Amino acid sequence: MTTFVYSSVAPREVDTGLLVLPVFEGPLPGPGVKETGLVEAFAAAKLTGKAGEQLLVPGPGDRFAAGAVLLLGVGPREAFDVTAMRRALGKVGSTARRFGAVATTFAQAFGGARAADAVQAAGEGLALGAYRFGRYKTKGADGADLETVTVLGAARWDAKRMKAAASAAAIVTDAVCWARDLVNVPAGDLPPAAIADAAVAMAKEVGLPCKVWNETQLAAKGFGGILGVGKGSVNPPRLIELTYTGAGKATPIALTGKGISFDSGGLDIKDASGMETMKCDMGGAASILGTMKAIARLKPKVNVIAAIPCSENMPSGSAQKPGDVITHYGGTTSEVLNTDAEGRLILADALAYLAEREPACIVDTATLTGACMVALGTDIAGAIGNDDALARELVRAGERTGEPLWQLPLYPDYRRLIDSKVADIKNIGKRYAGAITASWFLAGFAGDTPWVHLDIAGPAFSEHGNDLGPAGGTGFPVRALVRFVQDRAR
Ligand code: BES
Ligand code: MN
Ligand code: ZN
Repeated sequence: MTTFVYSSVAPREVDTGLLVLPVFEGPLPGPGVKETGLVEAFAAAKLTGKAGEQLLVPGPGDRFAAGAVLLLGVGPREAFDVTAMRRALGKVGSTARRFGAVATTFAQAFGGARAADAVQAAGEGLALGAYRFGRYKTKGADGADLETVTVLGAARWDAKRMKAAASAAAIVTDAVCWARDLVNVPAGDLPPAAIADAAVAMAKEVGLPCKVWNETQLAAKGFGGILGVGKGSVNPPRLIELTYTGAGKATPIALTGKGISFDSGGLDIKDASGMETMKCDMGGAASILGTMKAIARLKPKVNVIAAIPCSENMPSGSAQKPGDVITHYGGTTSEVLNTDAEGRLILADALAYLAEREPACIVDTATLTGACMVALGTDIAGAIGNDDALARELVRAGERTGEPLWQLPLYPDYRRLIDSKVADIKNIGKRYAGAITASWFLAGFAGDTPWVHLDIAGPAFSEHGNDLGPAGGTGFPVRALVRFVQDRAR
C-alpha cells in the first residue's frame, strides 16, 4: 500500500528517493528546478523541454536532499493541463518505484481553483503509473512497491484542502488498482461466486451493506437473463447488491456493470484470438465495485445503490441456444439469436431491477461491443442513453479525470433493428451500429429512468499498457464515476 503525503516543504529539503520536477519547452524551468540548482543541467544535456524528455540527476546533490532528481520535459507551458500532468507522471511511475519513495512539485504548475485537483491528479499519476500485477509471478513483480508519494504544494495553499486532495488520491488510486486486480486475475480463479466474495470482503472492509443473490434466489425472482447466460457454465451466476447511504432518505444514484467472468461466446463461440482477453469481460462490474469502494471511503453526501450481475458465458450441453427465448426480471421477453451478445442479457435484468427502485438516474458500464471499439478505438468509451444532460455530466467528469467518454446517439429509427418475430425484442441487430442497437436493447429496461450506458470494451483493458499503467485491466472509468457521484453531492 502506498502512503500519500501532502507537504509544502521546500523542494530542495524534501526527504524522498526521487524528486520529479517539470521543465516546459524552452527549456523553461518549472517549480523547484531553480531551487535545486538544476537550471543549467537541462540545457547542458541539450534538452529543450519537449514532452517525454528526461534527465535523471543522481544525488547526493549539494542543493537537494532527495536521492535523485528527475527533470521531466512536458512540452509547451500553455498546452499543459491537469490531464497532461497525470499522464506525464504516470509514465515515470516505474522509475519512481525503483526509488521506493517519490515527491513532485508538478501540482505547483497549477494554482487557484485548480490546486486541489492538481494535487489529487499528481498523486494519482505517480501511483497508477507504478501499478504492477505480480500475483502470478513466482519471483514477484519486477522491483519493490512504491511506498510513499509526496505531493509538494505552495506555502500559500490551504493545507487542509490539499491534504484532503492527497487522501482522495490515495482512496481513488486504491480503488482503481483493486478494480485492475479483479480484471487481471484469470477467469479460472475468479468465477461469479469469487467476484461476489471479493465484493463481500471489500464491503466489510469499508463498511457497506452488501447482499449476494445465489442462483436459487435469482430463479425465484425471475432473473432470466442472468440465469440464461450462466446456464452453460459449471460456475453459477450471482447478483451483487451494495448500498451506500451518505444522505439519509435522498433518492439514490444507481450503478450497474457487466460481470461476465469469462466470455467464450457461448454456443456462438468466439475464435481463439477473440477469446484471449475475455477475462476482461467483468471490467464493468470491477469498475462499479471500485467506485463503490472509493465512495464508501470518501463519504460524499449522496446515496448510491449498485446491483452487479455476474455470469459466465460458456458452451455446453446445458448452454442456452440461439433461438431460445428468455424472460427477464420484470417480465420482458427476449429472443437470444446470438449467445455472444450476452452482456445486454444480464444487464437487462439488473437495469429492470434498479429502475423499479426509482433512482435519480442509472449509469451502467460494460465491455459490451466490438462495434464501439471500431467506432472509438481503444482509448475512448461510448456514452449512450436516454438523457443528454446526464450524458454530458458523465462526459464532463471524464474530462476532469482524464478518462475520455464520447456521446453516441440513441438514434430513434434504429430501435426497429431489435424487433423480434417471436419475443418482445431480439438480442442482436444487423451488421452496422452495433453499439447503438446494444444500447436500444438496454434502453427498454431502464424505462423512464434517466440512464446512460458506458461501453468500455476498448478502454477497460489495455493490450500494450498506457501512460497510466501496464498491459491488462485499467480500472476505467472508476475515476470518472467517483467524480460524477461526488459532483452530484454538491
Ligand atoms: N464481450 C464482448 C465485447 C468485447 C469485444 C469486449 C472485444 C472487449 C473486447 C461482447 O459480449 C460481444 O461478444 N459482443 C459481440 C456482439 C455481437 C455478437 C452482436 C461483438 O461485439 O462482436
Ligand atoms: Mn460476447
Ligand atoms: Zn461479453
